[in-house]
Amino acid sequence: MKKIVLALALLVPALSWAARPATPEIVPVPQKMEITKGSFKVKGVGINCDPTVDARTLKAVRQFADRLSLVTGRTSDVASPIGLAKAVESGTVRGLYFIKDPSVVSEGYKLSIDKKAAIVRASDYNGFFYAIQTIKQMLPVSVYGSVQDTKSKWFLPCCEIEDAPRFGYRGLLLDCCRHFFSVEEVKKVLDVMSMYKLNRLHWHLTEDQGWRIEIDKYPKLTEIGAFRDYTIIKRDLNSSDGTRHGGFYTKDQIRDVVAYAQALGITIIPEVDMPGHMVAALASYPELGCAGSEPQPYKVRTYWGVSKQVLNVGKESTMKFLEDVCDEVADLFPGEYFNIGGDECPKDEWKTDPDCQAKIKELGLVSDEKASAEDRLQNYVTARMQKFLATKGKKIIGWDEILEGELAPGATVMSWRGTKGGIKAAAQGFDVIMSPNIYCYLDHCQSTDLESEPYCITMKPERAVTMPKLYGYEPYTDFPESDRHHILGVQGNLWTEFIGTNEYLEYMLLPRLMALSEVQWCQPENKDYDRFLRSLESKELPLLKLLGYNFRTPDELR
Ligand code: ACM
Repeated sequence: MKKIVLALALLVPALSWAARPATPEIVPVPQKMEITKGSFKVKGVGINCDPTVDARTLKAVRQFADRLSLVTGRTSDVASPIGLAKAVESGTVRGLYFIKDPSVVSEGYKLSIDKKAAIVRASDYNGFFYAIQTIKQMLPVSVYGSVQDTKSKWFLPCCEIEDAPRFGYRGLLLDCCRHFFSVEEVKKVLDVMSMYKLNRLHWHLTEDQGWRIEIDKYPKLTEIGAFRDYTIIKRDLNSSDGTRHGGFYTKDQIRDVVAYAQALGITIIPEVDMPGHMVAALASYPELGCAGSEPQPYKVRTYWGVSKQVLNVGKESTMKFLEDVCDEVADLFPGEYFNIGGDECPKDEWKTDPDCQAKIKELGLVSDEKASAEDRLQNYVTARMQKFLATKGKKIIGWDEILEGELAPGATVMSWRGTKGGIKAAAQGFDVIMSPNIYCYLDHCQSTDLESEPYCITMKPERAVTMPKLYGYEPYTDFPESDRHHILGVQGNLWTEFIGTNEYLEYMLLPRLMALSEVQWCQPENKDYDRFLRSLESKELPLLKLLGYNFRTPDELR
């Protein structure tokens, strides 16, 4: 009798557990997810793909089938059966289905799983791709690996998921200039972005400290501009690490990375930062500057901060250089946006440079309480590049400085100096991308206890971007309701002044990238830091380990 009571006592919790299936750990958490009773067997599942999906989607589905076959040890074939829609409607389906459904919003997906069938519906590539990411997150972590796993149970929970992103622009900036990162490392960053449904890589490719993209018309940009003699140690201007640093991406490498990103649902937006942050170009072609060219006044910068050496935009030949460069860069990146930078351009040189002053006179630019004539000279550069890039089918994005003075309609403003630039730009009718340094700068320390962290850009505790701080960022704050539609999305920025290795890059990125993904993807009411941390602990951090990423264990999980 005692034994029976004990057996029953053990059974009751098991039954109640079975009645209330565990919620799968998915980051970013789906907008709507209802878990029902039962599960769907994935091992050896037949996969059916709507014949009307595009070739890219079919390829992604095939890759997923190959992955399932590999890890489960049972083959999953992909078929495109005729009469698929009818079979689904009549409920006679068995297996995993990918169905094109134009009623599903862009990048969204619906996932309906019962014991016999798992049906994915989406209207575009990213929707299907993200459904696959979600399915992978519901399976054992070994689904991401490269070996067969016979120990795990290959089931999906029966559920109804309806998911779509809050924001269309879910970005990450990667600075490959302050330190150069290999194609392999860039791809590793793209991989982890795609797992968490980020869809834009803002690739910072030109800087004072290094020019990183091959330009046929100006070969010295990479012969000279891609390398600096040494790098200072920390902030000591008199120090040197004694190591020449540099590198650049050939056009073939850029094409390869762009195609790689496309398959992951990521559009790469190049940044050619102008008219400041151009010392590497000036070192390559001194005639582009205000300082004359004899003797060589420029050197690829070996230290950080803002340089007063900027382009001489009073010269038509400099503007031609910018157009030529942007022409070649635009041809490599098929997306609709091109980032022209525009941040931190001191106007000291322009105030005395004869070419710049002549240009100011010619254009009739004046100083008033709103902006100086030199600020307006930068407006002229922005407007010219905007016009030029429009001929290449591109819209411009620029840092919030491009708003100082006049800005032509159609530009998008990236708000980095806090949130005020974005608020002001949206009030003037511009689209904005929110990347406020106080929440979204991933080069800032991850803890207020600075002693416990590697050296980083902000050595003030109040400037730390801790995970709860980033997770708690609400992009609508201080935006009047009428302007909120101008917020295209949110971006995290990984500047690399003090980040010189892949390990440190990943340490600063992960797992803050996941917190960023919930800011970008989730409606505010679906965010829950405790649930997020549980997901990190039980699923995401073990996954990062399995995939060979370095990461920081959040304080709460130590
Ligand atoms: C910036 O951080 N200078 C855009």
